[in-house]
Amino acid sequence: MKLSLNVNGDPLEIEAKVNARLLDVLRREGYFGVKHGCDDGTCGACAVLIAPDANSPGKVVNSCMLLAAQVEGMFITTIEGLGGVQQHGWKGTEPLHALQQAFVETGAIQCGYCTPAQILAAKALLDREPNPTEAQVRDALAGVLCRCTGYVKPVEAVLEAASILRGDRRPLAGDLSLPAFDFQSPIPNIQSPNEGEPLIQTRVLPKLVVTPAQTETHIVGKPEVKVDAVKLAQGKPAFTDDIELRGMLH
Ligand code: FES
Ligand code: FES
Repeated sequence: MKLSLNVNGDPLEIEAKVNARLLDVLRREGYFGVKHGCDDGTCGACAVLIAPDANSPGKVVNSCMLLAAQVEGMFITTIEGLGGVQQHGWKGTEPLHALQQAFVETGAIQCGYCTPAQILAAKALLDREPNPTEAQVRDALAGVLCRCTGYVKPVEAVLEAASILRGDRRPLAGDLSLPAFDFQSPIPNIQSPNEGEPLIQTRVLPKLVVTPAQTETHIVGKPEVKVDAVKLAQGKPAFTDDIELRGMLH
């Protein structure tokens, strides 16, 4: 059957079997950012955003659980649709979307298999709630299983991206400075509850351990962006299942 879809803003006219799943159709068309994980709706790696029109916010759906025919005429967003000028599923180009950038910079990407789906789930959240709580972020990411990160960094990345998109960039953990402890201030004059009794005042000082001066290094001891983080955040072909030379017979 003939199908008309809109993927990342581009109209797509395709020929597909009646029972073709959206996941398979998108990957066949080169959108390898849509990952093939479990086939039964459990892992969320195949998530895309679906909207009835170009102006409505997308809803997260697992593309392995939908027939392509069910989304005829709808607007589909894959990871290739985020960020700068994207070239039809194969070569995303910078600049990155704030979410992609935050995932790269906070170290939220390990193997990267779940990353496109996590970023899309986060985008759906930020489109409807620009100032989410940590609990809302965790809830939004809960449908995408991640074996690697433990979710700490992805949650941090989403909160960071949200603040950048709102224009009130919150400080990262490394930027936080603790209030200085004033060792010289007088101890408050506290009266004993029993008149005439002596009041014993004590102050427990924290033990300070000063790290000996280190020679400045260029790489060691400094955060580094993962070498393939940008590629993974854009959903570019990176895994064995994604390697397909256009036009090959098998
Ligand atoms: Fe796992 Fe679709 S492939 S939910
Ligand atoms: Fe590896 Fe999430 S599954 S980064």
